[in-house]
Amino acid sequence: MLKKKFSCVKVDQQKDGITWVIFNRPEKRNAMSPTFHVEMVEILDHLETDPDTKLVILTGAGVSFSAGQDLKEFFRETQDREDLKSVAYKNSMWRSDKLWMYNKPTISMVNGFCIGGAFTQCICTDFAIAADDAIFGLSEVNWGILPGGMVSKMVTDLLSQRDAMFYACTGRTFTGKEAAKMGMVNLSVPKKNLRRETLKLARELLEKNPNVLRGTKHAIRATQDMSWRAAADYLAAKGAEIKQRDEARGHDAYAEGIRQFIDEKAYRPVFSPYVGAADGKTTAKGGKPRPSAASKKKAKPKRAAKRK
Ligand code: ACO
Repeated sequence: MLKKKFSCVKVDQQKDGITWVIFNRPEKRNAMSPTFHVEMVEILDHLETDPDTKLVILTGAGVSFSAGQDLKEFFRETQDREDLKSVAYKNSMWRSDKLWMYNKPTISMVNGFCIGGAFTQCICTDFAIAADDAIFGLSEVNWGILPGGMVSKMVTDLLSQRDAMFYACTGRTFTGKEAAKMGMVNLSVPKKNLRRETLKLARELLEKNPNVLRGTKHAIRATQDMSWRAAADYLAAKGAEIKQRDEARGHDAYAEGIRQFIDEKAYRPVFSPYVGAADGKTTAKGGKPRPSAASKKKAKPKRAAKRK
């Protein structure tokens, strides 16, 4: 549990393993100052190994997710100070380097403005859900720089070439609804449902085997720029790593998942994870089949007939 208080970020840890990390400079539209970055590095470092945190949701207080880098504190006040500038840049890398391969699932809940450098954390969290009326924009062209850091590269990788070029060169804004259509976020929903939909996704992820989930997200990231052969090798090694991590908690996802489906008929993998995936308890150890799976079990003769 993280008890420390921060000046630019609020951390709200829930009992179910969901930790909210709330950018908390609403009066500055959650613009990212050097201090903000220092705090984010400390918070994310801590949460990555914190046993009470199973999943992290990033969002912003007030009307903004984040208005990008703080034009005054991050840019102007460091421009003639190479020392301050390089530290600020280094600390701001949490948005890409840390989030990209973070060991726990991450979600951006984009509640309002998501501007410039804030694209980085939105893109580098594993999932992003936006309010329909959230406003996205690459404002850099309007005030005098290119979308730097890794933003130009990221939007080119994520969006179509047409969209990346259009929005980077015009600085025009687009809504959460449009962001979902373009693949910038997974989905957009009316603002009144934003929290509910985000929690729905978070809870769905928490039902999975955490080691399998971790290996899967790393695999999706890491194989992007690998050759076919390197990817096959990496994936085999990742599979072995999952097994090893599961063994450490006295579990074998592979055997358990198959056993519960084939022998016990306790669940259907197409519709839900096996019993005890999240907490390592198995049906053999007293875990209960899911009610939905148990009720479907009554229809067993029909299913058996279908299989013949
Ligand atoms: N850096 C520093 N201060 C900011 C930033 C920012 N990126 N964004 C907003 N603020 C401050 C404003 O200066 C203002 O401060 P003040 O009350 O002390 O005058 C306060 O936040 C509120 O800003 P308003 O413009 O009054 O708020 P409004 O809701 O009308 O507009 C908006 C919000 C659209 C986000 C506007 O503030 C804006 O255009 N901000 C600049 C966004 C930007 O270009 N970010 C840099 C991206 S590039 C990069 O990140 C690399």
